[in-house]
Amino acid sequence: VFIQLYRRNIQTKTVKRPPLGFAFDIDGVLMGGHKPLPKARNALKILNGDNQLNAKIPYILLTNGGGQTEYERAQILSSRLDTRISPSQIIQAHTVLKDYVDQYADKAVLCLGGVGDTMRKVAESYGFRKAYTTTDVLAWNSSIWPFIHVTESELASAKPVDFSRTPISAVFVCHDPRNWGVDVQIMCDVLRSGGLLEGPCVDATKQTIQVVFCNPDLLWKSDFSRPRLGQGAFKASFQAVYKMLTGSEYPYTQFGKPTKPTYDYARRVLHNLLDESYGPGKLPHMYMIGDNPESDIAGANAAEWSSVLVHTGVYDPTAGPPAHSPTHQAQDVEEAVLWAIEREL
Ligand code: G3P
Ligand code: MG
Repeated sequence: VFIQLYRRNIQTKTVKRPPLGFAFDIDGVLMGGHKPLPKARNALKILNGDNQLNAKIPYILLTNGGGQTEYERAQILSSRLDTRISPSQIIQAHTVLKDYVDQYADKAVLCLGGVGDTMRKVAESYGFRKAYTTTDVLAWNSSIWPFIHVTESELASAKPVDFSRTPISAVFVCHDPRNWGVDVQIMCDVLRSGGLLEGPCVDATKQTIQVVFCNPDLLWKSDFSRPRLGQGAFKASFQAVYKMLTGSEYPYTQFGKPTKPTYDYARRVLHNLLDESYGPGKLPHMYMIGDNPESDIAGANAAEWSSVLVHTGVYDPTAGPPAHSPTHQAQDVEEAVLWAIEREL
């Protein structure tokens, strides 16, 4: 009789979906450079159950940052934020490239950003089997950019490829480039030669190589006192040089917040996470907590999520109203989380 009662109790106990969920930006909301911002740990503790709903409240991390696999990022953030964050909760700038694997799995793609071969490792973790970096290009022929010395360790991590015989099909600017001179030079070489380095110039109107930028941020907040230039500034530099060389900018695809593909991808991730825990159902009321009106708030507004703009990152409340209006403004991420929960009680 006890086992029957226990089984019936399990069947009837359907765990209710919480009424809300969160998407957290990372830089300027949870982290300042490599260090957690003061209220970040408390905010996540509240979501892990220490709240008036007495429930774990679901959340994802939605960042225009990257440069590592989602697994590596989850490990680092879990230890620094003192809570368990799974790789499936993290969407980085380049995570959406997983949707491109079918198209490019066995084609040579050039992955920009990060250091050494880190972006290759990320691309290979998604399923790209011919992912190359600008370090591989320098190892093939360092005179492509005369002002840099390739270190022994970079040479050791490089893939031996002859880029005069290996046509590049796409250029993915995955994370923020470190050496803009090298990356602008090699991008221009690849695109003007139709993918074969040192090959003949190709008519600009017959370009077939896809260029994807994964992060539009002109500015972002690290641990320096003022916002820093992001991948959006690199894109502007590349396009200005390419236009001086060819007379026009190069056509490209843009991912990252605030673009629709990135928020659509985030919705899919949230559905998977929630359906796994609660069975199939609708998304709860979503709150985006961000520090950058141009990316976090603009994207949330377009996705019809509520949004909270915090004052710990790019946005400076003394400089006037934000370019995109959030649902609410808060000093920091803990205040933002408490306001949203209060609103749903
Ligand atoms: O490169 C990272 C930066 O552009 C923004 O990161 O976390 O504020 O979206 P995040
Ligand atoms: Mg940010």
